[in-house]
Amino acid sequence: MRLDHIGIAVRQLEDAVRPYTDGLGLQLEGVEEVTTESVRVAFLTLGESHIELLEPLGGQSPVAGFLEKRGEGVHHLAVAVPDIRLAMDRARRAGLRLLSEEPKPGAGGSKVCFVHPKDFGGVLVELVERPHRSEE
Ligand code: CO
Repeated sequence: MRLDHIGIAVRQLEDAVRPYTDGLGLQLEGVEEVTTESVRVAFLTLGESHIELLEPLGGQSPVAGFLEKRGEGVHHLAVAVPDIRLAMDRARRAGLRLLSEEPKPGAGGSKVCFVHPKDFGGVLVELVERPHRSEE
């Protein structure tokens, strides 16, 4: 397994992307709407991992609530797993509280499930199964 990405909550995606591309020289992979989470996301390449910038789409977005409470900043970390259902089963057996019963469609055709931040000392953890990856 590896770190798939770090998710960062931002108010305005284009403004937030610029320091990563212009300032750090990271490659912007693309911008996409993830309707299940009511966010617009930008992915940047950082070695084997990624940075995911998340802008809320409307006040109902969980990211809107996060911004209101905590402001911009690190929102979650995502662990790449080879099989999301196996990873969810293991997490359940360990007593972790999953935020969805079933995997949800994530960015880039991935399948994701979030774990309650209280189970990780205040850190929201996302399990993510990427399509067509063989190295995990
Ligand atoms: Co994410």
